[in-house]
Amino acid sequence: MRRSSLVVVANRLPLDDNAAPDGACEWRRSPGGLTGALHTILQQAPATWVGWGGGQAPGPRLPTVGNVRLRPVALTADEQRGYYEGFANSTLWPLYHDAVQQPVFQREWWDTYRAVNQRFAEAAAEVAGRHAAVWVQDYHLQLVPRMLRELRPDLLIGFFMHIPFPPPELFMQLPRRVELLHGMLGADLVGFQREQAAHNLAQLAQKLLGAETGDHAIHVGGRTVRTGAFPVSIDVAEMAALAARPDVVAHAGKLRHDLGESKRVLLSVDRLDYTKGIEHRLTAYRELLRDGHVKVRDTVLVQVAVPSRERVESYRDLRDRIEGEVGRINGEYGRVGEPAIHYLNQPFDRAQLAALYRTADVMVVTPLRDGMNLVAKEFVAAREDGSGALVLSEFAGAAAELSTAFLVNPHDLDGLKQTLMRALEADPADLRARMSGMRRHLTEHDIYAWARAYLTALDQTGRLAQRLPQ
Ligand code: ADP
Ligand code: G6P
Repeated sequence: MRRSSLVVVANRLPLDDNAAPDGACEWRRSPGGLTGALHTILQQAPATWVGWGGGQAPGPRLPTVGNVRLRPVALTADEQRGYYEGFANSTLWPLYHDAVQQPVFQREWWDTYRAVNQRFAEAAAEVAGRHAAVWVQDYHLQLVPRMLRELRPDLLIGFFMHIPFPPPELFMQLPRRVELLHGMLGADLVGFQREQAAHNLAQLAQKLLGAETGDHAIHVGGRTVRTGAFPVSIDVAEMAALAARPDVVAHAGKLRHDLGESKRVLLSVDRLDYTKGIEHRLTAYRELLRDGHVKVRDTVLVQVAVPSRERVESYRDLRDRIEGEVGRINGEYGRVGEPAIHYLNQPFDRAQLAALYRTADVMVVTPLRDGMNLVAKEFVAAREDGSGALVLSEFAGAAAELSTAFLVNPHDLDGLKQTLMRALEADPADLRARMSGMRRHLTEHDIYAWARAYLTALDQTGRLAQRLPQ
């Protein structure tokens, strides 16, 4: 077996094995910010990606993706329940997102989480060459850095947390908080989306492990672990080119025609997740309709909500609530052939998403808490003519960078309604000025800049980063 000098370890592979309509298995790009971001950069850099294919057992034979060899990790049904649906997505995910949904602590999930992390660490140890760099991703695999260091002390180990890392008062609730911290601190460099998260980790390491901390450094167990903020991004040039493609422009024209040429179009695109603030947004929109600030004949909301984690109860409940509310709003305010909200609970390909971004007058991105939110960045990248408004939650990591968006606190319903109206009624020159600031920022801070910054900080020689397009 050939070994790689760069290995990425993430819960998901960039492809999901999905049953095609005829029952055969096929691979499809998995939705979600993490896989989208890494998929793009690794197409350019020879590497091995260790991850789960989304189904049970090995699935059909994996294709290679660009320069990337895929090394699948199989999960049994029990492991999916305890590790993925349980500890990762019912304990850590809600807790790390400000506990906007009550985290569930079930003791038996921990053993499965640890066993699956061990399997990922062993798979990475097997495919990594001598002195290779291994880049471990996200909250599913927090124990892997330490496990991997025990198996392969020669490796350079990076860890990146794509989601928020909570303040001590929330993290302290975790029954296995010490093990989780030790797990992450097995890395040489721990990266976050925001500086505050690195600060939270340092505080926790002091408090729980008695570690000494310095500037972006935690001294623990005779080693120094470096930390830092590296806000993730998108392939800006790719999205801009896609949005300008003639078939995408034509599709956007057709969407606009179907929605109503003269209407103002509000658009939201989310995974169907309680962190995304979809219910708050629907309430705000219902009240705007009720109060007559918007009318079905002049404004329409398109809500794309791609199905996610549907075996987890809180996600199924959320879907029921959202679908009930969309039905109520359409029932009350819609007219024949003219719904108040178009609700699309389905995956779209990149070209369809680009066409939707082109069609919107106002993009509404209002998560209650989000590590970054790449949808906001995709929208900005797709608007080459500089038009369009972005309403963006202050609680999305992206708000720190896209500061000329219409920033809003999604918990403040009146504020949210007012901001939606300001965006709908804004002067085109103001919109263009706001958009141009955001586009300038994104051009310099694309996905390649993110990977370069992280990998340079990891190996401190620039050798790893040289593999990426300059
Ligand atoms: P998260 O990582 O929490 O899902 P992000 O906004 O960072 O949130 O990333 C979501 C990614 O999933 C984006 O790249 C977006 O284009 C993609 N996506 C969102 N909705 C869909 C959909 N209906 N079909 C396919 N991809 C989608
Ligand atoms: C977020 C997480 C990713 C995850 C994605 C989609 O972006 O940070 O790790 O892959 O959501 O969620 P899923 O559970 O479908 O992998």
